[in-house]
Amino acid sequence: MQIEQVTLASTPQGKPAETDFALGNGNLPDVLQDGEALVRVIALSLDPYLRSAMAGRHLSASIAPGDVVRGEGLVEVIVSRSTRMAAGQRWVAACGWRSHALLDADAIAAARPVATEIDPPTLALGVLGMPGLTAWAGFGKLAQARAGDTLVVSAAAGPVGATVGQLARIAGCRVVGIAGGPDKCRWVTEVAGFDACIDHHDPGEGGLRGGLKRACPVGVDVYFDNVGGDLLLAVCEQLAVGARIVLCGLIAHYNGEAPVPLNPGLIIRARATVRGLVVYDHWADLPRMTAELSGHIAAGRLKFREDRSVGLASAPAAFVRLMSGHNRGKALVIL
Ligand SMILES: NC(=O)c1ccc[n+]([C@@H]2O[C@H](COP(=O)([O-])OP(=O)(O)OC[C@H]3O[C@@H](n4cnc5c(N)ncnc54)[C@H](OP(=O)(O)O)[C@@H]3O)[C@@H](O)[C@H]2O)c1
Repeated sequence: MQIEQVTLASTPQGKPAETDFALGNGNLPDVLQDGEALVRVIALSLDPYLRSAMAGRHLSASIAPGDVVRGEGLVEVIVSRSTRMAAGQRWVAACGWRSHALLDADAIAAARPVATEIDPPTLALGVLGMPGLTAWAGFGKLAQARAGDTLVVSAAAGPVGATVGQLARIAGCRVVGIAGGPDKCRWVTEVAGFDACIDHHDPGEGGLRGGLKRACPVGVDVYFDNVGGDLLLAVCEQLAVGARIVLCGLIAHYNGEAPVPLNPGLIIRARATVRGLVVYDHWADLPRMTAELSGHIAAGRLKFREDRSVGLASAPAAFVRLMSGHNRGKALVIL
């Protein structure tokens, strides 16, 4: 069976470019072996960690030139010789950037079923999927936020950051986002209900540090860091005593810039706690997270935004947009 697929043509240098990818055809065997399933890809999830995987720096996998680009998607089972999957069901699985995929026993074991009540089903790739679990676990299990705390979150308009901020608001925190551009900041405050949002492209007088001081006059109790870089240092300079920092992402470095070191003096001065977050440690909580966040969505307390591109051929451009900060919400490719 002939399928469409996107391979990595060359390892990106700096920001990825569309020419780092190649759209082509591949073949899948016509006959399935025991334990395998053939799936049709409905939507691909584009995630920043894929850029680290392309540089060979991610803990989950690496993607080398010539490989079909990895990644998860929402898939529908066409034919199954696995006892875990049946034709017609929808799952989130490691399909890669393909129109169709043959899932082996390992991929099927790691796949997650998508409940029929999840609407739209693409939420299983966003706020009710891996990014949502990242936010839920990082906020609920690591941040130790209390009502009245000032929580700052970067990449605040994305699925992780927006969910963290809204969970914090529900918990009674004062929430300040950091996002790139007026459109994102407007969505963060007017739709997601944050108390304030600093535009890191145009933070006003005194730059980012001035913007943080104005937005957090008594300091930052919790910083949920999705970015790293100078942003992390700038927030550390404003920490309140007893602050907690959750290190979740390093997108400022995924395109190749060397990580900015944390200044230990700032951590000591604030008697701060720093915790690293890896979502893979929290998969067992997926049903709990899904139930809780679905309730918030149904009650109108949790808003989300999807950045949809259409067609497999659009995946490279959509990924370039994501890694340039131009996505508006969870980056998806709808096939
Ligand atoms: N630790 C874990 O297990 C785990 C799991 C999932 C995700 N993450 C991390 O969480 C972070 C957010 O993920 P997401 O899926 O919600 O992505 P996202 O927010 O939809 O997209 C990434 C955003 O990062 C921002 N950004 C800031 N500095 C950037 C830079 N130098 N270059 C490019 N973009 C920059 C951009 O938004 P602005 O322009 O608005 O700043 C961009 O839109 C990422 O760092 C990701 O790797 C970690």
